[in-house]
Amino acid sequence: MPRRAALPPKRVDPQQKPFREGLSWQTGSSASLPDEVVRFRRRAILVARLLRDELAVTGSAVPRDLAALLDLVRDARHVVELGTAAGWTALSVALVNPACRVLTLDDTHKKRRHAYSILVPKDVRSRVEFRTERAELGCGAIRDVDVLFVDVGWHSLEETRDPFLAWEPAVRTGGTVVFHDYRRPDFPGVAAAIDELGLTGELHGGSLFVWRKPG
Ligand SMILES: C[S@@+](CC[C@H](N)C(=O)[O-])C[C@H]1O[C@@H](n2cnc3c(N)ncnc32)[C@H](O)[C@@H]1O
Repeated sequence: MPRRAALPPKRVDPQQKPFREGLSWQTGSSASLPDEVVRFRRRAILVARLLRDELAVTGSAVPRDLAALLDLVRDARHVVELGTAAGWTALSVALVNPACRVLTLDDTHKKRRHAYSILVPKDVRSRVEFRTERAELGCGAIRDVDVLFVDVGWHSLEETRDPFLAWEPAVRTGGTVVFHDYRRPDFPGVAAAIDELGLTGELHGGSLFVWRKPG
């Protein structure tokens, strides 16, 4: 019997793990998401698989958090998101609320956002403005924001506190600030920033801390 050459040990690419893990977070139950968002996300996940876009699958809000955020923006006219990643959340907000404009800021320009934007109708993507800007640099003359979503970087205390301080003046009286990944063990900076800022609020979904701006 000819002897078979020994096969080299199977190599596992450590880079694949976060991608696969992220995919499983994103494809977990989407039961409470509106149908149009479920349809958009199905196609976005397909594109992310083709592009092997790790940031999209590991960095975008997961279905449970997204569903809670979409409830909070239902009546909003002007939403600002600090931290865009692939743009899935910003595009989902514009999809569910046809009266809403979304401004989303990220410190890095990512060409791949275009691949996701074209998955929604033109009138939806035309209401989403992608800006490459550091969130802590301030809101300029922007005012009357109904909902501000703070979701910057790796959520250190500084990455949470400084963008909030820079953008809080833009939020209208009675408006809402939503902090992502509150009380998640991997991101203690969010709760630390909220404590330092002395904010009191409510928990929505799994990990959204919601603060309303007093009059
Ligand atoms: C968790 S992801 C945002 C996810 C996004 N909100 C979503 O749900 O799809 C964090 C993003 O913050 C961005 N970022 C990091 N530092 C920043 C800064 N100083 N200003 C603005 N964006 C920043 C990163 O490039 C990354 O895309």
